[in-house]
Formats: sequence, structure tokens, C-alpha cells
Amino acid sequence: MSHKIKTICCIGAGYVGGPTMAVIAKKCPHIQVMVVDINHERISRWNDHNLCNLPIYEPGLKEIIEKCRGKNLHFSTDIESNIAAADMIFISVNTPTKVKGLGAGHAIDLKWIDASARQIAKYAKGYTIIVEKSTLPVKTAETIKQILESSHQNMVIKEESKKAFSVLSNPEFLAEGSAINDLENPDRVLIGGNDNNAIASLTEIYSNWVNREKIITTDLWSSELSKLIANAFLAQRISSINSISALCESTGADINNVALAIGSDKRIGKYFLQSGPGFGGSCFRKDILNLVYICKHYGLKEVAAYWQQVIDINNWQQKRISNIIIEKLFGTISGKKIGILGFSFKANTNDTRDSPSIHICKELIEEGGCLAIYDPKVIPEQIEIDLSIKQTKSKKDSEGSWYFSRSVLDSAKDADALLIITEWDEFKKLNWEEISNAMRPPSWLFDTRGITNIYEARKNGINTWRVGN
Ligand code: UDX
Ligand code: ADP
Repeated sequence: MSHKIKTICCIGAGYVGGPTMAVIAKKCPHIQVMVVDINHERISRWNDHNLCNLPIYEPGLKEIIEKCRGKNLHFSTDIESNIAAADMIFISVNTPTKVKGLGAGHAIDLKWIDASARQIAKYAKGYTIIVEKSTLPVKTAETIKQILESSHQNMVIKEESKKAFSVLSNPEFLAEGSAINDLENPDRVLIGGNDNNAIASLTEIYSNWVNREKIITTDLWSSELSKLIANAFLAQRISSINSISALCESTGADINNVALAIGSDKRIGKYFLQSGPGFGGSCFRKDILNLVYICKHYGLKEVAAYWQQVIDINNWQQKRISNIIIEKLFGTISGKKIGILGFSFKANTNDTRDSPSIHICKELIEEGGCLAIYDPKVIPEQIEIDLSIKQTKSKKDSEGSWYFSRSVLDSAKDADALLIITEWDEFKKLNWEEISNAMRPPSWLFDTRGITNIYEARKNGINTWRVGN
């Protein structure tokens, strides 16, 4: 028998919690959805009247917020009472790679999960279903269960405030930039757990818009592991195609033709074969590092080394690109201006976590380049944080600096090179005549995404390099 869910609380109003809860609220008008966060600034931006100030940019998100906010979708910093009122609690907090201590550089830092579990143990009332949404190491649900159980064992519980919990794993498969579409039309929904009633309650929520055949239920650990493996397989495809992009450049083949030819085989499939500057984002690196850590923990040295190679190729691809730029610009970029087009880790998001731009820009700054960085959605304050260098005041400035550009043309002005790192639509159709006139000859275009018309650029006197060509 499923437990009827009337109120949901989501802990964490980030890239996962925000869009996921917005879609649940839209599809389930009979459920009250409360999204809570310790970050006051983030919550006030979710509540901002001006929808352009939402903390996350995602196509289609603003429209849902406009429709549901204040009706059955609420954003709040009042964690205590929203946990107490919830029938079901989603945990969508950050789970970055540990930077210090045991497993640093590989294992996931569970500090935020731990804190959330303790908050739930303290404030929840009655029977509550806990759903882990964040990507987590296998067996984290077990840890959450233990925290929940041990904390209320230590309390003197009055009969009327008795607590009981079921823990489910319900990994998120949304990709940023298409999150709303992914949530509304998922390939599958995965629910892991040992309590059939709790699974039925969560299945009922998704059934409001997802065909039941697409809802897969498994045991807890298989669900947790599947999320890691899905990301590892996706990242592996990118490293595979990127490794071949280098071979194409050396041999004269074209990576786009190779991708088309191999992707037409149904067994391989055409998706995720776009070579580029290496994968970024909050998930791939973190999840593979975690997978490597888990394999080592279980003594599976060869398996760990196999997956580590996916990350090594990714790092190599980014380094390879900055080296090519330096080499083409006569071996030095000291004091040369390079226009950077795109700073987010992919198009249609303002997220910069582990963006290839960060790694490539840092290398170029280190080599003395003066970067003019333009991105349609990323703000300069974020770039400052990511590069750990303040932007220079004067555009004429010197070696090893960067400043924020307001347009492509501003980035191109007097530049020796333009470097496309993010595949924003805006960069697909550029006016190469205008850009060429603005640049300093001999000028270069480096297209790491293979999205521009390099022949047009060449016709206008710009030297070109395109990944895998
Ligand atoms: C990923 C998974 O796709 C998603 O299922 C999971 O829930 C979270 O992690 P996300 O990181 O948002 O989603 O974006 P994704 O579209 O997977 O792209 C990741 C990185 O790979 C980006 O830097 C992207 O530019 C790059 N990429 C993707 C390529 O270089 N080539 C491709 O063909 C596809
Ligand atoms: P993701 O991409 O996984 O959604 P984000 O970093 O975008 O990650 O969002 C996670 C959010 O979780 C952040 O806004 C952070 O402030 C919030 N958070 C972390 N720990 C807690 C907690 N104990 N209680 C409430 N919110 C939390």
C-alpha cells in the first residue's frame, strides 16, 4: 500500500533540486513542494520577482516558476518546519570530490549529506520517506539510514512524535541545458529501495507524467551504482572520440565523418560522439574519480586503472588544445590578446563547474596571454572565482591577465586569436568579415567544438584550426 504524498520538501535548491522540484510541482498540482536551502542569497533569487534573476539558467525553467511559484512551489530557508511538515524529503545537496583527508581527490565529500540526514533526524515527524537525489557512492543510503536510526534511538520519544523512515535512491539523469525536457520526458526513472510501499509512493508521483514502463525499480545499491556507471559510460564515449580527434588531426581524416560513420551503427549509436575540449560539468569527473576510488577500495586495481584513463585523456585533450594555440602563435602568447568565446561547461547553462574553459584559460594566462572572455550567461564575478584571478581594469593590459567582454566583437578587437570553447548558438553563425577586420593579422580561429564555418573565416583571411580536422 502506497503512502499518499501531500507535501514534499527538497533540501538543496541547486541545479538538481531547483529544476526537479519545479517539474514535480508543475506535473503534480495536488502536491505542495517546498524547496529549502541554507544559502539565503540563493533562496532570495529563487523568490525574485524578476525572473531573469533566478539563480539558475535553464531553458523552460522560468516559465514553470512563473506558473507554480507561490501556488504549490515554494522556496524557503526555513528548513526546520518544512522538514517537519513533509511526507517525503528529497536530498539534493552538493556532493563534490573531497579536497582533504582520507580519499582526497577521489572520494565524494559526504559532509552535506551527513548534515542533511541529521537535520531530518532532528526535525522530521511521523513517517517520512527520504529520497536521495544527489550522486553518491554506493551504500550511502545505508549511511543515511544509520544516521536516521541512531539519532532517534538516543531521543526520548513521546508516542505522538514517533519517527519512522524509509530511504530510497532516485538518481537524477538530467543534463544541464536540457534539464526541463529531460525531466518531463525521461528515458527512464530509476528507483532503488527495499521498502515496496515507499517505492510505490514515489512511483505514484512520477506516474503523473511518466509512463509506468519507464519506471525501473531495483535494490538500493544497484540504483546508486547505476548512476555512477551511466555517467562513466557517457564520459568514456567523449574521451574515446576525443582521443580519435587527435589521430584524425595527425592523419588527415575528419572526426565529424568518422563520428557519422561509426554512429550510424545502431550498436554504437549517434549520441555523445561530438569531439571537443573535453568534458566538464559537476558530474563526470567527480563520478569517475569516485568509481576509481571504490574499485581500489575493493582491490580491483585493473578496473580502477581502466576508468582512470577516461579522466587522463580528458586532461590531456585540454592541455593539447592550449599547446596547439601556443605553437600556432609562433611559440609564444606572451602579451598577445586571445578572445575566448564561451566559459560555461556547455551551451544553455550558466554553470561553470569543471568547465574546460577554466583549465584552458588558466594555461593560457600562465603562458602570458591576455584573455578577453565573453559568455552570454556567465557573469564576470563567477569567472573571477573560477580563475582565482581578478580581471584587469585596462583592456590594453599586459601579460597573464583577463577581462570580461560584452560581445564577440569586443573579444575579437585587436585579438591575435579567437578560441571557441562553448558551443553557444550565437557562435555558430558569426560575421567573419567583421571579425577579421577587427582582429590583428595574422589572426587565428581555434574552434574546439567544430561549430563554425571555418571556410568562411578562412575566406576572410583568418588562419583556422578545428578539433579533429
Ligand atoms: C551529465 C549526464 O549527461 C546526466 O545524465 C547526469 O545526470 C549529469 O551529468 P551534464 O554534465 O549536465 O549531464 O551534461 P552533458 O550533456 O552530459 O555534458 C557533459 C560534458 O560533456 C559537457 O562538457 C559537454 O560539452 C561534453 N560533451 C557532451 C562532449 O564534449 N561531447 C558530446 O558529444 C557530449
Ligand atoms: P547540484 O548540482 O547537485 O544541485 P548545487 O551546488 O547546485 O549542486 O546545489 C546544492 C545546494 O544544496 C546548494 O545551494 C547548498 O547551499 C545546498 N545545501 C547544502 N547543504 C545543505 C543543508 N544541510 N541544508 C540545506 N541546503 C543545503
